[in-house]
Amino acid sequence: PAMDECLSLYDFEAVAKSVLPTAAWAYYSSGADDEITMRENRNAYQRIWFRPAILRNVESIDFSSTILGHKTTLPIYITATALGKLGHPEGEKNLTWAGAEQGIIQMIPTLASCSFDEIVDAAKPGQVQFMQLYVNKDREITRKIVQHAEKRGIKGLFITVDAPQLGRREKDMRQKFADEGSNVQRTQGESVDKSQGAARAISSFIDPSLSWKDIPWFKSITKMPIILKGVQRWEDAVLAAEQGLAGVVLSNHGGRQLDFARSGIEILEEVMRELRRRDLLKNGFEVYIDGGVRRAGDVLKAIALGATAVGIGRPFLYAYSAYGHEGVIRAIQILKDEFEMNMRLIGAPTLKDVTPDMIDTTALGHR
Ligand code: FNR
Repeated sequence: PAMDECLSLYDFEAVAKSVLPTAAWAYYSSGADDEITMRENRNAYQRIWFRPAILRNVESIDFSSTILGHKTTLPIYITATALGKLGHPEGEKNLTWAGAEQGIIQMIPTLASCSFDEIVDAAKPGQVQFMQLYVNKDREITRKIVQHAEKRGIKGLFITVDAPQLGRREKDMRQKFADEGSNVQRTQGESVDKSQGAARAISSFIDPSLSWKDIPWFKSITKMPIILKGVQRWEDAVLAAEQGLAGVVLSNHGGRQLDFARSGIEILEEVMRELRRRDLLKNGFEVYIDGGVRRAGDVLKAIALGATAVGIGRPFLYAYSAYGHEGVIRAIQILKDEFEMNMRLIGAPTLKDVTPDMIDTTALGHR
């Protein structure tokens, strides 16, 4: 189908499924074990309803925002997804170009198919990029990666903390890994077992001994704001704030790690309550969520509960697998159209007006 016929983020998924090689589709679309958490990431949004306010003058709508102090046209960033060239020859650069065109921030994955410098070089002057970090058993490699990123102007370091071991994504494991074009093994100094799917092949360098004791070391090697990606309960969000980190991403890795982990939107309410109760939001600590975000309405629910922004993963991968960077631009434009309509209909002219009273969370069943 023609790109113009894509009306929602779901449409790109259907096109991607029809055009992607089996192994690429398996790697992108899979979740861990029974994929309960992956489905729950969508389902949880269906337990939150809107309480629209009427007669609020919604003639002009403004959904621009900031993330870590950097301007964004939407409270959305492109989260890190590995192995971009499985979907399209230009890989992650599709996301860079679309982010530039549409004014949204890209998080560069450690396990990108394009080299890190290629992705930074693809950015236009002043374009903001973040970096996602998998921590290597060899800390010297990690130190070099982090300091190089800072030197190249990266504005935030997102350390992934939900993957001391990669989850079992059986769809992916049934495929053999043959991404010879990828540079990821080289940069991590790895030899690779290609017999158990893409995820396993590229991840054996990740250090499962990583702990809270390592946080001061990260702070000593970089001035970039540090955010933990993959926090799954309020206790850990509190610890992160107490350690003086810049924020957390409430995430279960798109359902690709621990099955039966709760979704980011599900735990957001308790995380915000406990941070507020301890007065830990006062230094600009920011909370993001990702997983299953497919509609502007999902994002507005997260904003109402106190999130600063949300990450979107698979839909952008699917969009460029189907149509290159133009597809990603189209996907972002669709989200902008949805934002305008949803904010009008809930009675919120700006994101500051998207307050807790705008939603009904009774069905979440929290106290
Ligand atoms: C990911 N994600 C991920 N996260 C991370 O920290 N490092 C990584 O290398 C990857 N790689 C990756 C590959 C693919 C194919 C997917 C789908 C996801 C997780 C990602 O950052 C994010 O948490 C989820 O993708 C969010 O869920 P949705 O938007 O895909 O539903």
